[in-house]
Amino acid sequence: MKTLKELRDIREKASAKLKARNAADKSTIKVQVGMGTCGISSGARDTFMAILEEANNKNIDNLSITQVGCLGNCFEEPVVRLIYPGQKPKIFVNVDVEKAKEIIEEIKS
Ligand code: FES
Repeated sequence: MKTLKELRDIREKASAKLKARNAADKSTIKVQVGMGTCGISSGARDTFMAILEEANNKNIDNLSITQVGCLGNCFEEPVVRLIYPGQKPKIFVNVDVEKAKEIIEEIKS
């Protein structure tokens, strides 16, 4: 069980991270992985994990990587939507683990 001081420390750290993230929101690139039923059955979980792992390996910290619901295109799952600030979203289809790594490489360059 945590003490009150430990809990306050955790809250302060989380609050500081949140402030830093909010300040960076304007430069944050959103990476959304469609996790509807079709996406999951087509391997979207592996795609999502590959994106997380590759972003972490490449130390890219201006990404917001999230799971979202159905993005449509169920015949082309897994689907990934990439949103650069102020731009129209880019949609990638049939994103397997290798293609997921290529997307992260494209973001980094
Ligand atoms: S998950 Fe397939 S149509 Fe939405």
